[in-house]
Amino acid sequence: MAKVLVVGGAGYIGSHVAKLLQKKGHQVSVFDDLSTGFRELAKYGDFHLGSILDPQEVRAVIKQVAPDAVLHFAARAAVGESVENPSLYYEVNVAGSYQLFSALRELAPKAKIIFSSTCAVYGAVEGRLNETLPLNPVNPYGRTKKMIEEMLADFSHAYDTRYVSLRYFNASGADAEGEIGEMHNPETHLIPRLLENALDPSFEMKIFGDKHATPDGSCIRDYIHVEDLADAHLRAMEYLLNGGKSDVFNLGTAKGSSVFEVLKLVESTSERKLKYQIVGARAGDPPALIADSSKIERVLGWKPKNDLKSIVHSAWSWIQKRPR
Ligand SMILES: NC(=O)c1ccc[n+]([C@@H]2O[C@H](COP(=O)([O-])OP(=O)(O)OC[C@H]3O[C@@H](n4cnc5c(N)ncnc54)[C@H](O)[C@@H]3O)[C@@H](O)[C@H]2O)c1
Repeated sequence: MAKVLVVGGAGYIGSHVAKLLQKKGHQVSVFDDLSTGFRELAKYGDFHLGSILDPQEVRAVIKQVAPDAVLHFAARAAVGESVENPSLYYEVNVAGSYQLFSALRELAPKAKIIFSSTCAVYGAVEGRLNETLPLNPVNPYGRTKKMIEEMLADFSHAYDTRYVSLRYFNASGADAEGEIGEMHNPETHLIPRLLENALDPSFEMKIFGDKHATPDGSCIRDYIHVEDLADAHLRAMEYLLNGGKSDVFNLGTAKGSSVFEVLKLVESTSERKLKYQIVGARAGDPPALIADSSKIERVLGWKPKNDLKSIVHSAWSWIQKRPR
């Protein structure tokens, strides 16, 4: 059993990971400032209200929990907002991560770190992406994540900090038992937006471009079920606790789905016809982003268990009953 500090555990992905860790018998503590998260999602383990931007609060929780592992989800994570307000992103993501890693270095230097990175670090590249590609993020959000990966690599080199960075593709779906699921305000992700539209036809739905160089003209993305993401975190943590070296892994399914494929599946799952508007493509939006996930399969033995159908089904069950 490990003592695990889940930083940002009141958010969408962190809450699902906290649930799995607790189920597996680990001692879970969530630390979150609730800036974009929700107290009702932080129901696994004990809860500590505080911000990674406040060195005193970070130090206090590390001293209290004495973690063996720290899972770091806390961030601002909306690309459009990062373009409009980059200062917030450099502050929360970069300065916040620095506060967290520095406090860990001083107070829990043996704690293993799992960091939530993103495929946005690759930038406007296309096709099946593997971890050896150069990182060329095209927006402030992606740049902050790249900087944090670099900070971890430097800390690892100089102070022997051990970490895994997981570059998520499109996290989606909800807990199979229906206890938790995706909640972002505003919601920018495709699947919950389409489902919101199925529930409330007055909800405005825009599709960004139908002339991309893809078979049906809409963008292709790699959707990964949040429960498969949670399983990867558990494996990454066990790998580090068993002496694994610092490393970086893509976390996607290696399968792409187009916006129109997802839309059709939402229509058949919800048994409702969706109303949407096709608008211009977003600048710098790559036509297709799909993970090469062979490295995580090889090193951590991880494989996705869910497909797009189970993603949409679980998300639809959740959205109909989630707190509003
Ligand atoms: N959702 C995705 O598809 C996706 C894809 C790639 C990467 N990621 C990364 O995964 C992580 C989690 O994403 P999510 O969708 O669960 O987001 P989320 O907004 O639901 O969760 C983030 C959590 O961090 C907390 N937080 C933010 N600033 C904080 C601070 N200063 N101190 C303490 N807590 C703070 C928020 O309150 C929230 O509970 C993020 O780092 C994000 O960049 C997400």
